Amino acid sequence: MRHLLNPLDFSVEEIEALLDLASDIEKHPQKYAHVCDGKKLATLFYEPSTRTRLSFESAMLRLGGSVLGFSSADSSSAAKGESVSDTIRVISCYADICAMRHPKEGAPMVASVHSGIPVINAGDGGHQHPTQTLTDLMTIRSLKGRLDNLTVGLCGDLKFGRTVHSLINALVRYTGIRFVLISPPELRIPDYIREDVLEAKGIEYREVENLDEAMPELDILYMTRVQKERFFNEEDYIRMKDCYILDRQKMALAREDMFVLHPLPRVNEISVEVDDDPRAAYFRQVQYGVYVRMALIMTLLEVEKPC
Ligand code: NCD
Repeated sequence: MRHLLNPLDFSVEEIEALLDLASDIEKHPQKYAHVCDGKKLATLFYEPSTRTRLSFESAMLRLGGSVLGFSSADSSSAAKGESVSDTIRVISCYADICAMRHPKEGAPMVASVHSGIPVINAGDGGHQHPTQTLTDLMTIRSLKGRLDNLTVGLCGDLKFGRTVHSLINALVRYTGIRFVLISPPELRIPDYIREDVLEAKGIEYREVENLDEAMPELDILYMTRVQKERFFNEEDYIRMKDCYILDRQKMALAREDMFVLHPLPRVNEISVEVDDDPRAAYFRQVQYGVYVRMALIMTLLEVEKPC
């Protein structure tokens, strides 16, 4: 039985196969409408979510399966003190696969050890968010036609942003990837990513504070929200929350074939005036997220691809 806890749980070849399957689902959705008939997905969300939980549910429903679950810790037995390992043992009796989001880093990993069904990490604290990464990879591959030889700007909260950590981990496996890491000094990427991933693999990267300066060289700009819920004190959050605002003027500095991604939710970091720019890809990214999760559910449940 396989789980998805970290983007590296799948090899580059397996990710390619998964993205190919997701692209086929995008082209021929009707072919897949019953491949998971009778299967159940449990969504165990101990932290707020709109896209991730609902895109998992939408994915399973589009495959013909059904869904059950909870959307906050307060509405589950966690509020009574139940451990994640007990909860997952119970859920294993109700569902065939589960997606778990938890504020504690490593909680989905603990669950996987005690689980009788595949566990998908749907975000654990400031650590990883592998299904957002699969979504990001599908978006980049669909828009740029490749996952190698790209200059990727990551902007905003690189310290607490789990989508950034997962995306860096996944992209360093492709050749010719360069990163421009754009953040205030307080929100730079954690040392374990800088040293154990970027430095250890000899990846080209620059850490800068100025977004304008970085714009002209980027193939992809990945904007992120300052992660309010992970700050220890509100003053720091208020000081940093509007540190970057992508607007039309900044977009004018970028290439014609650059694309802007954002895992969403957006707060202030992308001005709504950018939404009409053909290079704004964040709502298309949401749609790709459904196809990728459909492909992932099929892969982990070992459902045959229909002919
Ligand atoms: C992200 C997350 O939860 O980490 N959202 C998402 O799943 N698309 C990004 C965020 O909350 O800023």
